[in-house]
Amino acid sequence: MPSLSSRSLLLFLLPLFDIQRCLAVPPLSPNSTTPECSCYQPAGNTEAVFLNHQFFDFRSLDNETFVSNLTAPAAVRPSQNEGIEPLTSPFFDTGFFGDYFIPGSWSREASEAAPVALVNSHQNLYLARDAPDSPVHLTLRTNRLPSFQSASALETTEAAYLHASIHVRARISGSPGACAGIFTYLTDEQESDIEILTRDEKSTVRATNQPGVDANGTVIPEASTQIAVTQPGGTALGSWTDWNDYQLNWLPGRSEWLINGMSKLNKTYGVPRESSNIQLRMWSNGGTWPGNMTVGGEATLDIEWIDLVYNTSHDAPGATCTTVCSIDNFARNPQPQIASGTVGSLQLGTSLWALVLWAAIALW
Ligand SMILES: *[C@@H]1O[C@H](CO)[C@@H](O)[C@H](O)[C@H]1NC(C)=O
Ligand SMILES: *[C@@H]1O[C@H](CO)[C@@H](O)[C@H](O)[C@H]1NC(C)=O
Ligand SMILES: *[C@@H]1O[C@H](CO)[C@@H](O)[C@H](O)[C@H]1NC(C)=O
Ligand SMILES: *[C@@H]1O[C@H](CO)[C@@H](O)[C@H](O)[C@H]1NC(C)=O
Ligand SMILES: *[C@@H]1O[C@H](CO)[C@@H](O)[C@H](O)[C@H]1NC(C)=O
Ligand SMILES: *[C@@H]1O[C@H](CO)[C@@H](O)[C@H](O)[C@H]1NC(C)=O
Ligand SMILES: *[C@@H]1O[C@H](CO)[C@@H](O)[C@H](O)[C@H]1NC(C)=O
Repeated sequence: MPSLSSRSLLLFLLPLFDIQRCLAVPPLSPNSTTPECSCYQPAGNTEAVFLNHQFFDFRSLDNETFVSNLTAPAAVRPSQNEGIEPLTSPFFDTGFFGDYFIPGSWSREASEAAPVALVNSHQNLYLARDAPDSPVHLTLRTNRLPSFQSASALETTEAAYLHASIHVRARISGSPGACAGIFTYLTDEQESDIEILTRDEKSTVRATNQPGVDANGTVIPEASTQIAVTQPGGTALGSWTDWNDYQLNWLPGRSEWLINGMSKLNKTYGVPRESSNIQLRMWSNGGTWPGNMTVGGEATLDIEWIDLVYNTSHDAPGATCTTVCSIDNFARNPQPQIASGTVGSLQLGTSLWALVLWAAIALW
């Protein structure tokens, strides 16, 4: 077994190379990191390229160890107000996924702006399918109890993401009064969000760079913009209750939101400047933003896959994009395609660095 220090070094290296070759866990993210590619260009028409790529495809998780039944775990009960319920599957603290994301179990007390206490519980994070032969998806659930809102949160173990393209295939449904969030977070001033409010019209998505209010609590108009879900390849309105692809491109000086591959919005206000983590949440607090869920209400955020293309604050210094691979339509075509081989200076690519460092750990 690796010692604690080599394990933390391994965690540090995780974004840099193909971990599934080294850990005996199911290959949740096959082909994410491809040796021929030194950089990845995400889906959409951005020119941006990134050094790292990870694809978390829950659809491929048909191992009975992780997905034992079709039934959602029981709803959290009024007496379960501490958020201490166990994980619903060993998947959440095992290997590849468990090393990338931490399920949240933190709580927040009620306040004037957030009149309903929020308690995250592992019981609201589970793997499910619509039918026995349907693909598996991840679910984050929120329920309203008389004295609190039971919620669900996932965040990356690292807060080292510095520019990223976050691409998630998701479906939202349930009672009004919940907020489904996919976002980058460092502070309340450096945060970039895709949010779906279940009190909104079914085609409305909120695209926000924080801060959303000034020091006096006045709304900053350029912070948050409503964008519309449109169906793939067209302009007809879609619904967030169906499966759609949501993409947030966090670039230097510009944030871009895309839905089903169509660019919806660019924003230069409030673009995060420092390395951050990436979070997924399904929550409410009774405040004016998510709204108030009726007691007994429930809402879910289902996710089929998460495609992350990113740089980090600890990428190998001087890394260059010698071979750029396009991951357009990655979910349908999981093998990144070589888009261009540029003539760069001869430098060690990140995967080679990682290999050298890995070899050093393995020998030590
Ligand atoms: C599921 O995955 C676990 C962990 O890798 C493995 O031990 C187990 O044999 C697998 N089960 C099946 C049915 O494939
Ligand atoms: C990964 O790549 C290999 C080689 O191209 C291919 O045979 C395999 O089907 C791919 N795996 C998935 C899950 O797409
Ligand atoms: C990511 O890092 C590479 C290597 O330094 C750089 O070429 C690329 O522009 C960076 N991407 C973004 C979006 O900053
Ligand atoms: C599976 O079903 C049992 C009994 O119905 C339930 O208690 C459990 O929470 C379910 N597990 C998951 C992961 O859904
Ligand atoms: C907040 O309100 C005070 C008093 O009206 C005003 O002087 C100040 O400029 C306001 N601050 C902002 C950020 O608007
Ligand atoms: C956002 O900016 C990119 C790059 O300039 C452009 O391709 C895209 O069309 C813009 N999106 C919108 C909605 O204007
Ligand atoms: C939500 O409900 C709580 C108590 O049930 C109440 O204190 C709060 O004002 C309500 N919030 C909104 C936005 O209606």
